[in-house]
Formats: sequence, C-alpha cells, structure tokens
Amino acid sequence: MSGISRRGLLAAGAGGAVLLGTPGVAAASPELWRRPGALGAPPVSGLHLQFGSDASREAVVSWHSTASVARPRVLLGTPDGGFGRTVEAETTTYRDAKSGTEVQVHHARLTGLRPDTDYVYAAQHEGAAPELGTVRTAPRGRAPFRFTSFGDQGTPTLGKLSGTTYVNDNLGSPFAGDVTAAVEGAAPLFHLVNGDLCYANLATDRVRTWSDWFENNSRSARYRPWMPAAGNHENELGNGPIGYGAYQAYFSLPASDSDPETRGLWYAFTAGSVRVISVNNDDVAYQDGGNSYVHGYSGGAQRRWLEAELSRSRSDPGIDWVVVCMHQVVVSTVDKFNGADLGIRESWVPLFDKYGVDLVVCGHEHHYERSHPIRGQQPNDTRTPIPTDTRTDVVDTSRGTVHMVIGGGGTSAPSNKLFFAPAQCRVITGVGAADPSTGKRPPIYVMEDAPWSAFRDPDHAYGFASFDVDPGKPGGHTTMAVTYHAVTGPYGATVPVDQFTLTRPRRG
Ligand SMILES: [Fe+2]
Ligand SMILES: [Fe+2]
Repeated sequence: MSGISRRGLLAAGAGGAVLLGTPGVAAASPELWRRPGALGAPPVSGLHLQFGSDASREAVVSWHSTASVARPRVLLGTPDGGFGRTVEAETTTYRDAKSGTEVQVHHARLTGLRPDTDYVYAAQHEGAAPELGTVRTAPRGRAPFRFTSFGDQGTPTLGKLSGTTYVNDNLGSPFAGDVTAAVEGAAPLFHLVNGDLCYANLATDRVRTWSDWFENNSRSARYRPWMPAAGNHENELGNGPIGYGAYQAYFSLPASDSDPETRGLWYAFTAGSVRVISVNNDDVAYQDGGNSYVHGYSGGAQRRWLEAELSRSRSDPGIDWVVVCMHQVVVSTVDKFNGADLGIRESWVPLFDKYGVDLVVCGHEHHYERSHPIRGQQPNDTRTPIPTDTRTDVVDTSRGTVHMVIGGGGTSAPSNKLFFAPAQCRVITGVGAADPSTGKRPPIYVMEDAPWSAFRDPDHAYGFASFDVDPGKPGGHTTMAVTYHAVTGPYGATVPVDQFTLTRPRRG
C-alpha cells in the first residue's frame, strides 16, 4: 500500500453521508454518499479483486449478494483526484444445487488503467452503503514487485450446528484467518491461491461457506487481487456442468478463449516480466478428489491451450519468468495423504520441460516442501522427475522447474507430521473401480525414491511463500528472492523457515 491511507478511506466510508471528490478537479465529479434507508437492500459482500490478462491495465472488482440489486457499479479514482469514473458491473448468477439459493455476483471490469498506479474505488448498488478498496496496477516491463502464494485454506468460521454446538465443517481452523492477516502484512502486488479455497463441497451450507471465505479474505483481497487455481474441493455436486459453477461465478478471470463451460478454469496474466499461468489439474489428475470424477473433462482442450500459452510466453521477449499456479502435485514426500499424481507428470511436466517453466506453486498436500530444479523423467512406472542440480540456496531455473508445495493455508488437517524419512514419494498411478458405498474410485499407489526433494518443513503446519522479483540488469540475470513464512499465530505473526534465490538469464 504505497501512497494511500487505508485508515482514512475506511473512516470516510463509515461516516454516514460523506462528500467525496476534490473541488476544482474537473475529472472528479463529487458524489454524495448516504447510508441506505430502510429499503433493505443487501449489503456489498465479499468485496475482492482480480487482475485482467494485462495486470498493468486491467482489474475486476467483484462482490456478491443473494438477492437482486439495482445498478451495481464501481466508482473509480485516484488517491489525489477523487472518484472520477463510474464503471457499471455485470451480474453473473449461479444456483447452488444443494440449497437452491441463487447467488448473484457483480463484476465491474476496470480497463484502460495506468501501470504501476494506485487507484481507489467504491463498490455499491442502489440502497447499499459503498464498500471501499484500493488496487495497485502492475508495473510494465522489467520492474521489481512482490507476490505471495498459498493453497488449502478453509475458513475460520463455524458453519454447522452439531447438537447444540457450532463446529467447522469445511476443514478450516483459526489459522485460516491468521494466514490472511499475514499475507496482507506482506502487501504483495497479488496473491496466488493454489486451490482448495474453502472446501465448500464438504460443507453443510455451501453458500455460507463461500461467503465466509470471501468475508475472511476481503480484508486483503479488496486491496490486491487473490488469483486462484481451482482445486478438487471447488468441485461441488450439481453446480455447473463440471462442478465448478460456484467458483466460475465468484471469480472473473482473464479470458482464455475456452468455451463457457470451462470459463475461468485456466487462464494467464502478465505482471512485469512474469507470466502467471493458472491451470485446473482435475482434468488430468488420476485421483478422484472432488464431488464427482471429472478426469479428462476438457477432452484435451486445456492441454492444447496450455501448450500454446507456454509457447507464446516463452517467445515473448518481455517475459523472463513463467510461473504455473495449480493444485494437485507433481512432488510430495508425505505418507498417508494424497501423494503425487502420475496424470500431471504425464500431461503437464513434458510441457513444463519443453517450454522451460521456472516455478510451479501448488497445494493439495497440507504442508510445505520444495523440489530441486527438475527436467526430464526416468523411464519408470512413475516417471520420476530428474533433478538437474542439488544446490538449495541459489537455483538456476533455466536448468529445471522448481516445484513448491504450499498447502498450509489454514486447514484443520495439516500433513507436516507425515513426511517419509528418508524422503520417498507415493505416486497415484491410476484408480480402481468405484466403491459402491461411496462412489469414490480408490487410488492405486506406486512408491518411488525422491532424489528431487530439496527442502521439507516438518515443524510448521501453516504458512505462505513470498516472491520478490528483481529484474536485474540488461545482459545479466533476473532473480526472485523466495521466503516460506510459517504463520505462527494471530496478528500476522510469522517466522521465516526457508529462504532461497531463483535466478535465470534475462531475455532482454
Ligand atoms: Fe486441500
Ligand atoms: Fe486438494
């Protein structure tokens, strides 16, 4: 948050009728805000941001309601100039198949923004008090910035009445709130959410669970985009043709020329010299991890898009770093949890190798570990990744892709006490016939040694990673300083656990 007093903004929003705008600035027409009367309009809920495909120019402001609203819109301006522009929002709806509740999600697309610039905005609809936020656009070209990442969060709230006591029914814990404060404290340009957002597919009340997730994270996601990848727990029975209908409604993500059924499940955006590519691994993973088994749902469309996107990214002279955000993993060294998935090794890893992906951030396993740079695969049943270097403090990603498992976003089921000693990997190589009582296909596991394992954190259940991009000098190297921060308590308390540097030659 450079240059903006967030406290001042929020105080203005809470103050009842407030005259905003700067007298004498023609571009900023003042607008009188009033608290809503007794009309009962739903509030602006779950305010959050996304970047467009060019994060230096485009962002989307989103919020939701469970009743119709009139004129959803965003007032947009700058810290100095007041709100000079009104952007009408478009409303997307989905009806939750379990409760029958219709959710309306309002997306206001902000275009033509200036790079590396702070904006202020107010989201509102008729009869509702405006909710305020800020967004900073990405720099253009090679410039320093920070991003952060974790997966597998849940909510810190209690959504289910069990007897006379409320309990959490989305695999959440109090740390699902603490990580949000910690990420906000790191003030990234954007945050990558590596799937398994709120585990709504486990919850008694899915709509409440999504609402709780956005309410918990709005205190960060209204100031910086939280860019997601869909995980297996975003797959909800009956919601949309594949099960991601809720996820697809809540987020307005960069277009990827895919058909409406798969909208938002894979996309890419550029920030500075970093291209972030988000994919949905349920399409290629063998594991049966969602409410329904959707392996192969895109019929190869996602793979074709990914290859074209990787090819474009690697031939773009303005892009140094290619970062993939996804959920299920290529590497894992814990027992009695999910394991690595051969489907991803077969479908994605050859593409990551061919196009030189630098970094993969993922989740699904509820702990932190990372790989050495890997390139190529052993010709065995599990396609064991081949490490190309074993140095752990400085890693040249032009020699191989570093995979980071960052699944300590807050669940009540951490896996950091389940590491194999020494490191080994359980690989899911297929599934058996569906169990008639559960309908689930049991995984088939094959064990492998894990020469690619570089670092594991058995001591902390929760945390996130930060990445500080340094563009370096022309003709030299660009670096990312990476820190995995364990989240140890409330108020954003963290401890640095793993620190290393990714480096690669600059392309320009
Ligand atoms: Fe998870
Ligand atoms: Fe998962």
